[in-house]
Amino acid sequence: MGSYNPFRLILVSLLCLMIAVVLSTVNSSEDFYELLGIERDATTKDIRRAFKKIALSEHPDKNPDDPKAHEKFVKINRAYEVLKDDDLRKKYDRFGEEGLKEDGQGQWNRYESWQFYKTEFGLYDEDPEVVTLSKTDFEQSVFGEDIWLVNFYSPRCHHCHDLAPTWREFAKEMEGVIRIGAVNCWDDRPLCTQQGVQRFPSLIQYPSREHYNGARNLKDLVRHALRQVKATVHSIWTGNFKAVLLDPEKKDQPWVISYCTAEKEREGDSVGERLGCLDSDDTLKLAAILNKAVHVGSVDCIASKSLCEKLKMKRALLCTTPQEMLEFDESKQIAKEVLRLLPALTTLTTEQLQLARENLKKKDPAQRPLVVYFITGSSEPDNELRKLPKLVPQFKVALFNCSTDATLCDQLYLTNHLPKVTFFRVGGEHEFHHGRSFAADIAAFARESFQSLVHVLDPSSFPSPVTDGQNIWLVDFFSPHCSSCLQLIPELHKVAKQLGDVEFGTVDCTIHKEICSQQQIRSYPTMILFNNSKPTIQWAICIHLR
Ligand SMILES: *[C@@H]1O[C@H](CO)[C@@H](O)[C@H](O)[C@H]1NC(C)=O
Ligand SMILES: *[C@@H]1O[C@H](CO)[C@@H](O)[C@H](O)[C@H]1NC(C)=O
Ligand SMILES: *[C@@H]1O[C@H](CO)[C@@H](O)[C@H](O)[C@H]1NC(C)=O
Repeated sequence: MGSYNPFRLILVSLLCLMIAVVLSTVNSSEDFYELLGIERDATTKDIRRAFKKIALSEHPDKNPDDPKAHEKFVKINRAYEVLKDDDLRKKYDRFGEEGLKEDGQGQWNRYESWQFYKTEFGLYDEDPEVVTLSKTDFEQSVFGEDIWLVNFYSPRCHHCHDLAPTWREFAKEMEGVIRIGAVNCWDDRPLCTQQGVQRFPSLIQYPSREHYNGARNLKDLVRHALRQVKATVHSIWTGNFKAVLLDPEKKDQPWVISYCTAEKEREGDSVGERLGCLDSDDTLKLAAILNKAVHVGSVDCIASKSLCEKLKMKRALLCTTPQEMLEFDESKQIAKEVLRLLPALTTLTTEQLQLARENLKKKDPAQRPLVVYFITGSSEPDNELRKLPKLVPQFKVALFNCSTDATLCDQLYLTNHLPKVTFFRVGGEHEFHHGRSFAADIAAFARESFQSLVHVLDPSSFPSPVTDGQNIWLVDFFSPHCSSCLQLIPELHKVAKQLGDVEFGTVDCTIHKEICSQQQIRSYPTMILFNNSKPTIQWAICIHLR
């Protein structure tokens, strides 16, 4: 082992290199972002969707009477070609069109037919169940806790088009069970090459990186996906009914049980009755959606006739303990119903939240760390978040309504940035969640924040004590709208866990504009090392793919 050099570790861990988003904007009437009608922090998918919309109305094929149509469309096409390419976009952001002089201007005069944009463009951009992944969020998404099946496609391949309707169906059917993604390799060529994609479509499972080589029909895809699910369906019969339901180890979660007579047909059963039955695949899907929050069991009412008769279960029915009965037709709907039946998150009063924060500050062992969902107005969080307390039993999960106490939310700089999930640590620090707001994502954030301290800096903590020279500080100046910034924060946590002698902090430049302009932050994210009060190293960071 060589000598321990923490800063080399930071360098290795963060692979800091390039400039991400430059703040200064280029003002010209031909601004590429304005041409496409998008924000400067738009994602590749936003860019593609915006371009497609314009292409369908402004394309010369559609405007044969407009002599300027070609000229106009070339400009729009050029804006799109530049902004969809990460490297060109960075050059454009920094230097405007001047920066593009050396890049193939000529090729941007060529464009595709209207029909192409209509049918062959971003196959899954309009499907909410299929997550369109790109270079910026790929790693962070697929190498987490969930299982992903990702379709690497090219809009120019026939088989990809043939597969599209099936893939959409598949994504709908698997919603909440496993994650379904798509990568447009026409736009994200380097990502596809780097993931070893050689032909289209390639279906790859993550995080294991196994290729799916089975038949590309719904039945086989679903069967394959369900084999990957790790949730359990408890088999219940007359003999074990009481023991299972009273098992002290299973008391932490409520139960939902499917009572079913359908799988083995009986004479006299009407078709209507049989249709209502959840088959074993559906039960498994339900178990996957409710995993770790609700136990799922199934009773075969043919084999356990006496049990079902005693409980008066005559038809295929689903019963949650203790007493709700649900009629159903598919697992997704049942999952929704079950989530609705779970207890709602507790709403804290201002006094309760203040007291909890004081107790955390005093390190009162009776006070669990807090995960608080701050809301405003009447918008309630999705029922899916009712799973959260079960996913993080070591923390207390609650809701706080900023409409009832704006002062407290002002103090946390939350006003105008709601809803926002915040984690309150032992010791009094807090941290904000910037990622997706599914229960599993919030749980992962809270666990990470619990394990390693990254200070959220604001005018009360910056410049003092950061620049007082007591400690070495590494501060990340970021915007929650920049995707490479959001990739960096989990990395900071990883490094903070390993480096005890350096303090880590973040400044959200969309909230604390004065701090960032005073530090002359020109791009996101920027890292500054404060050693004996002098900022010594300044890095702009870009995370590279594995
Ligand atoms: C950009 O320039 C135009 C005129 O050249 C001006 O009207 C507009 O306000 C400017 N926009 C910004 C954001 O400076
Ligand atoms: C939050 O408080 C406001 C004002 O008291 C109220 O109108 C709103 O319905 C509350 N929101 C929720 C989700 O309860
Ligand atoms: C911090 O400053 C001290 C003294 O000026 C110096 O010895 C040390 O190497 C510096 N650390 C870093 C990481 O620059």
